[in-house]
Amino acid sequence: MRSHALIIVGGGLAGLRAAIGAADRGVDCAVVSLVHPVRSHSGAAQGGINASLGNHPDAGDDDPQSHAFDTVKGSDYLGDQDAIRILCEEAPARIYELEHWGTPFSRFSDGRIAQRPLGGATYPRACYAADKTGHYLLHTVYERAVSLGLRIYDEYSVQEIVVDEGRCVGLVAYDLKGGTIEGFAAEAVILATGGSGRLYGRSTSALINIGAGVAMAYRVGVPVKDPEFVQFHPTTLYGTNILISEGCRGEGGYLLNSEQERFMERYAPQFMELAPRDLVARSIQQEINEGRGIDGQPYVHLDLRHLGMSVIQDRLPGIRDLCIHFAGIDPVEQPIPIQPGQHYSMGGIDVTCEGATCIEGLFAVGEAACLSVHGANRLGGNSLLETIVFGARVGESAAAFVGKTKSDGNRIESAVDNAVRAFEAKLKALIENPATENPYAMRSQVTEIMDSHVQVFRTREGLEEAVARLRELRARYAGVRLRNGGRVFNLDMLRVLELDVMIDLALASAVAALAREESRGAHFRADFKARDDANWLKHTLAYRTEEGPRIAYKPVVVDQFQPQERKY
Ligand code: FUM
Repeated sequence: MRSHALIIVGGGLAGLRAAIGAADRGVDCAVVSLVHPVRSHSGAAQGGINASLGNHPDAGDDDPQSHAFDTVKGSDYLGDQDAIRILCEEAPARIYELEHWGTPFSRFSDGRIAQRPLGGATYPRACYAADKTGHYLLHTVYERAVSLGLRIYDEYSVQEIVVDEGRCVGLVAYDLKGGTIEGFAAEAVILATGGSGRLYGRSTSALINIGAGVAMAYRVGVPVKDPEFVQFHPTTLYGTNILISEGCRGEGGYLLNSEQERFMERYAPQFMELAPRDLVARSIQQEINEGRGIDGQPYVHLDLRHLGMSVIQDRLPGIRDLCIHFAGIDPVEQPIPIQPGQHYSMGGIDVTCEGATCIEGLFAVGEAACLSVHGANRLGGNSLLETIVFGARVGESAAAFVGKTKSDGNRIESAVDNAVRAFEAKLKALIENPATENPYAMRSQVTEIMDSHVQVFRTREGLEEAVARLRELRARYAGVRLRNGGRVFNLDMLRVLELDVMIDLALASAVAALAREESRGAHFRADFKARDDANWLKHTLAYRTEEGPRIAYKPVVVDQFQPQERKY
């Protein structure tokens, strides 16, 4: 059995930054990751990372307070203001730290870090590296982790958290290359496994983002907070739903419907295309639904042509490549066909500002967690920031926890051993199951249900249908058989196990969305169009039970900014 004081599950930005925070404090820690860290989904982030550096000529008197206000307003007042303050106040120092570690940020002509506007922000504060910000950050942080000699187990799929007498003591993982089921003993575990975008078919997420870590915590009794709040990015490439960065609109790109109208003028006269994502995504979807999609198709145009070759090549080269390779169009000469697509999970594992869950020794951070700094709608540029600010913070707090604990090593090892044996028995039962349900057809049904009913616009009827069909899939999962009993790189096994996760999380999201009878941020109920602070200014907590999610609520931290009507 392998053993480390602290194990971080997930090799993306949040996980690596947490590992660095813990290693800097002398803790023996290791990262266990499904993919090699530089292939993590953090690398797909494009537009930027927010910090009120004030470098842009239009930065006015930008400061952390202004950043915090934009974030709270963008969150439709569901964000917890204590966490948001930490995010915005620590941002500038964390950006300079990344700069010193070697991130090749784009620069203004005076040499300072370049910043661009992103949606919902009063001032341009997104620091960027062309349109590949996540890619460059990920490589910077990975190199830092390597320089510290961090142990990284890649191509391990963590399947279960081991809890002994209310305390997290390790995990069970499938080593894809070695073909074995491995136990890892630990004093503490941090889950940094990313979001659950692939509950949807139309999503910007990597195929690995099915919410594995969220489901692991959910199964051991940790509630999932705000699972109904799913972000739909306004501009995903029609056909593949690859992200087309908000940075395109930050650089001056605009949206046109079939009548060649800049329709955002009707929806957000002040912010136009740089209104927050929930509002822009709804506006585009409404144009499409009312028949003003291009040629009657479910997309509108994002026009960058007026920016010219040199701006596009300098600041949006990745977008140009994506359009050429995946849509056969050059945005220098043609408008880009775009439609809203799932992009981000605002909800996740319920944690404190230190990343602690209700289980001792179990922490979470990044998109897998819900602190909640994004509330009902995340602003562009705040997710990369969350991974860095809270990655460091949670790594340090888990390291402090490890330093304080005294544990019985034999007891931990025997609990992990038992969990490995139980997991092997579960696999055997799946292989020997005489039933014949097709897990691939069921997976398509989950994504079809989410794409159809837990979308930009939601209704009671649609959500009721989603819940009923997901409950049916939940029951049918017992009839799934694992056909491939091999061990090395058994992707069939992974898909079968993932389906279980996906059904659980999709059901939690749909049940919570059905219960929330108001519209707030990305959760828009066509049958309850207004925000209802009197009854719904509260976080959802979904607890897993055998009968399906049990829903409870908890208060939002509102201390500085009182809820107001959002105008853009
Ligand atoms: O549009 C984008 O570049 C995405 C940024 C983000 O999600 O923060």
